[in-house]
Amino acid sequence: MKAIILYDSKTPNGSTEAITDAIGLRLAEADVFVEKAKCKAMADYSFVKDYDLVILGAPVYYFIVASHLLGALIHGNLKKNLKRKKVALFLTCGSSETMAAVLYLPQLKIHLVSNKILAEKTFAPDALSDGDVLDSFVDDMLYQYNKSLKSRFLSLIWSDEALELLQSLPFFMQGKIRTMAEEYAEERGYREITLKVLDEARESLGSTYC
Ligand SMILES: Cc1cc2nc3c(=O)[nH]c(=O)nc-3n(C[C@H](O)[C@H](O)[C@H](O)COP(=O)(O)O)c2cc1C
Repeated sequence: MKAIILYDSKTPNGSTEAITDAIGLRLAEADVFVEKAKCKAMADYSFVKDYDLVILGAPVYYFIVASHLLGALIHGNLKKNLKRKKVALFLTCGSSETMAAVLYLPQLKIHLVSNKILAEKTFAPDALSDGDVLDSFVDDMLYQYNKSLKSRFLSLIWSDEALELLQSLPFFMQGKIRTMAEEYAEERGYREITLKVLDEARESLGSTYC
């Protein structure tokens, strides 16, 4: 699995960055390939397509989630590139989890209605003093990720023709195409991947595969 943590903060080496690194370390210990990138509102986020899981993290300043992450979702192309991605969210702030769940997390979630949010968490600035809090966020994320793959695997059938087409592709492309087709089918509630579904997916995703 490949994950990226997109984080925002005005504070170099502040609490958000420290939590970002700690989450990254725990994911790496769980054999996840993980990278981090600092958000800029108007950056080009097409690179997130290469990741299976995108973790968004930011502090709250004056009741608003940090501006580069929000800006990337509202004005930049992050939201477009996150389409169909599995995401996890975390905030750092001084308020209680309850208040954050009501006031702050929705500022991100309103832009992610088409995404599967695997886990969300609000961390206090000193969250690193309690490693368990971080562990449970990462465990939750990985559990939900694996569960979503398993349920997809169990519920989707490939028709013989579609499977034949998949297997005729160069080996290095097969995994990516399989995932794209299954995500597409899952999102639309298809139980079977047929040649027609593959065609539809190709048109919808604008891909040149098959
Ligand atoms: C200028 C400023 C404004 C803040 N405003 C809020 C706020 O409105 N609500 C809140 O819960 N926490 C607020 N906080 C607390 C921060 O969200 C918290 O300290 C966070 O961990 C800071 O992350 P950073 O170290 O990456 O900057 C504020 C902190 C600062 C410095």
